[in-house]
Amino acid sequence: MATETIVLLSSREIEKMRQAGRLASALLKHLEPMVKPGVSTLELNDEAELWTKAHGATSGPLNYHGFPKSICTSVNEVVCHGIPNAKQILKDGDIINIDVTPILDGYYGDTSKTFFVGTPSPIAKKLVEVTEECLRRGIAEVKPDARIGDIGAVIQEYAEAQGFSVVRDFVGHGVSNIFHTAPQVPHYGTRGKGKKLRPGMVFTIEPMINEGTWEVKVLADKWTAITKDRKLSAQFEHTIAVTEDGVEILTLPQEETGIKLA
Ligand code: MF3
Ligand code: CO
Ligand code: CO
Repeated sequence: MATETIVLLSSREIEKMRQAGRLASALLKHLEPMVKPGVSTLELNDEAELWTKAHGATSGPLNYHGFPKSICTSVNEVVCHGIPNAKQILKDGDIINIDVTPILDGYYGDTSKTFFVGTPSPIAKKLVEVTEECLRRGIAEVKPDARIGDIGAVIQEYAEAQGFSVVRDFVGHGVSNIFHTAPQVPHYGTRGKGKKLRPGMVFTIEPMINEGTWEVKVLADKWTAITKDRKLSAQFEHTIAVTEDGVEILTLPQEETGIKLA
């Protein structure tokens, strides 16, 4: 993985990533109004699967290395890769990350957001807001000749200054017509370190930020990753492309794409 070469996508391929990314964004928007007390994570999954098929796409997570469902639903202390379940009913005050990855015309659009179920506690609200700001700051570092380490450095600096911690065990990743490829994009690290960014690189930034310890453990189902101290974890994810003059977020609604951060 570390020695795998980083592929530069052609403009034709980036257009396919844009279409897949827009669909991923629209899917999250479609699911958002369902996020209410009383809904099960399986109902979210099943609606996602139907909607994805109806839009001519397939669900990247389904059967990926044996993952059994179409989306990941990660509630409260679940860091990532939560498996939708009929018995898991959302309740007031929960936070839930929904991570979707439709495959459209062979290309993957990978994005996630953390939503509030009803009214959040003050700490949940702060954690979710800080995590979204971590993603924003990470994206703002992306431009040609910047380095992978710059992204993690700004995310770690901001998260820790706010009293939170950065998950180490899961990282952003190259994505194209392959779900997970080079480069790995840690959400911690050192400015000036790591590979140089080049136009045509496409990867995710997907910080998982914890209320307490950064340490995680994976449950017996081999997927569900939870915080070791069972405190809250939040995550936001976009798929981005390095452009000639900065960055393009590929997983935005159609009306919001083309915004360039220099
Ligand atoms: N979408 C997740 C990511 O951001 C990966 C989910 S893989 C699965 O990389 F198998 F858990 F679905
Ligand atoms: Co994802
Ligand atoms: Co991802």
